[in-house]
Amino acid sequence: MKYESQKIAQYFFSAAVVLFLVQVLVGTIAALQFIWPDFFILNFNTIRTLHINALVVWLLLGLMGATYYVVPEESESELWSIPLAKFQFWATAVTVTLVVLGYIWMGINPQANIQVLGTNLLNEGREYIEAPRWADYLIVVSVLLFLFNNFMTMLKTKKWSGIQGTLLGGLTFLALMYLPGMFYTQSMVKDQFWWWWVVHLWVEGSWEVIAAALLAFMLMKITGAKREVLEKWMYIEVGLVLFTGILGIGHHYYWIGTPSYWLWVGGIFSSLEPIPLLLMVWDAFRTTRETRNVQNKVGLFYTVAHAIFNFVGAGLWGVIHTLPQVNKWTHGTQITTAHGHLAFYGAYVLLILAMIYVTLPSIRGVKEFNQSRGYHAFWWMTISMVFIVMTITGAGMVQTYMERLMGLDYVSVKATYNLWFWIFRAIFGVGFLVGVGIFVKDYFKIGKEPVAAVSTATQRASA
Ligand code: HEM
Ligand code: HEM
Ligand SMILES: [Fe+2]
Repeated sequence: MKYESQKIAQYFFSAAVVLFLVQVLVGTIAALQFIWPDFFILNFNTIRTLHINALVVWLLLGLMGATYYVVPEESESELWSIPLAKFQFWATAVTVTLVVLGYIWMGINPQANIQVLGTNLLNEGREYIEAPRWADYLIVVSVLLFLFNNFMTMLKTKKWSGIQGTLLGGLTFLALMYLPGMFYTQSMVKDQFWWWWVVHLWVEGSWEVIAAALLAFMLMKITGAKREVLEKWMYIEVGLVLFTGILGIGHHYYWIGTPSYWLWVGGIFSSLEPIPLLLMVWDAFRTTRETRNVQNKVGLFYTVAHAIFNFVGAGLWGVIHTLPQVNKWTHGTQITTAHGHLAFYGAYVLLILAMIYVTLPSIRGVKEFNQSRGYHAFWWMTISMVFIVMTITGAGMVQTYMERLMGLDYVSVKATYNLWFWIFRAIFGVGFLVGVGIFVKDYFKIGKEPVAAVSTATQRASA
C-alpha cells in the first residue's frame, strides 16, 4: 500500500463484513420461517426487511471502502481529507445502527412506526429502501461528503484516469438514483414507477458501471495487464450497460399500470442486457490467459468468479424471465427470488469480496498470506448458493404451474406442494452460512498470522 489514506478502506470493509454475517444469519431465519412460520421472535416481514436492507447497505459500504482504496492509488496522492473520511464512516455507521434498531423495535411493537412530520418514523415500507425519511437525509449527507472527498482528491492532483473517472461517474449516478425513492405520490402506479428507478437503475445501471471500473482495476493490479487495453474494454462495457440497462427498466413496467409500449421497450432492451456482462467474462479470461506471475491467486480467482456469476446470475437468470410473454406467468414468484439471489451474489457480493482479497493484503502490509481459507469460503458459499438457486427455481416452476395455470391458491401451494423445496433451501442456507463464517474469520486474520514456511515455499514455487 502506497498511501496512508487507503487504510480508510478497512473501516468500511470491516463494517461490511459484519453486516454480511448478519444478513446471512437472518436469511437463514427467514428460510426456517418458510417451514415454521412462527419460528423466532421477529416475524418474517421484519426478518426479510433486515435481510435485504443489510445486503444493500453492506454492499454500499463495500463500494465506499473500495473507492477509498482506488482513488488515492489512481490519483497518486493521499485523500483530500482523512479526518473527513473517518467522520463520514462513523456518521454512516451510527445512522445504519439506528435504522436497524428501528426495524427491530417496529418488529416487536408495530404501533411504534408513528407519523412524524408526515413521514413514518421507523420504516417507509418500500422494499430494499425501507429506511425512514430522516435516515434518507443523513444518508444523502454522508454520500455527498464521500463524493466530495474523492472528487477533491482527483481535482487536487489533476490525475485523471479512465478507471477512477468511470468509478466516480458511476457513484454519482448511484447517488442521484437514490433520490427518486425519497418522495411520496398518491398513486400506487407512480410510486412503483419511481421505486424501480432506484432498484433497477442501481443494480442494472450505476452499480454495473462501478463493477466494470473495479473489474478493470482489479485485473490491472493482479495481473499487471495493460491499462489502455483494459480501459478500452471498460468503456465498451459501460456504454453497452447503459444502452441496454436504462430502457431495460421496462421489464418492471409490464403489469403495474404503465402504458403498453413498455412491453416492447422492456422486452427488447432487457434481452440485450446479458451482452455487456458476457464481455466482462471474456475480458477477465483474456487478461488472465496473458499473464503468468500472479502472486495473489485468490484475488484473481474471486475476480474471475465475479465476472462469471455476474453473467450467470444477472444475465442468464435474468433473461429467462425478462420477456413479457414469460414474465406474465413468472412475475413475483420464486423464479424472481432465485434470480435475485444469484444476481446479487454474483454481481455484487463476489465483487466486494474480490476487492477485499485484492486490496486487504497490501492494506495490512503483507505480500504473502494463507490463501487456502479464501478458497474454502468460496466453495462453501458458491456451491450452497447454486443449490439454493436451483431449489427455489424448482419451487418457482411448481408455483407458476400450480398457481397460474391450475389456479390453486398461494398459501396451499406454499404450505403443501413447495414444502420440500423450503427444507432443501434451509439446508443449503446453513451451508452458505458456514462459508460466510470461514470468510469472516479469514478477513480478520489476513496479515495478522505468520504464514507457514511450507505454504510460502509452495506459493513461491508455483508463482
Ligand atoms: C446485477 C444485476 C441484477 C440484480 C442484482 C438483479 C436483482 C433483481 C432482484 C432482487 C429482483 C426482484 C425485485 C423484487 O423484489 O421484485 C429482480 C427482478 C427482475 N430482474 Fe433482475 N437483477 C439484475 C439484473 C437483471 C438482468 C440483466 C435482467 C434481464 C436480462 C433482469 C431481469 C429481471 C426481471 C425481468 C425481474 C422482474 C421479475 C418479476 O417480474 O417478478 N435482472 N432483479
Ligand atoms: C449473499 C447471499 C444472499 C443474497 C445476495 C441474498 C439476496 C436476497 C434478495 C435480493 C432477496 C429478495 C428476493 C426477492 O424478493 O425476489 C432475498 C430474500 C430472501 N432470502 Fe436471501 N440472500 C442471500 C442469502 C440467503 C441465505 C443464505 C438464505 C437462507 C437460506 C436466504 C434466504 C432468503 C429468504 C427466505 C428470502 C425471502 C424470499 C421470499 O420472500 O420469497 N438468503 N435474499
Ligand atoms: Fe431490472
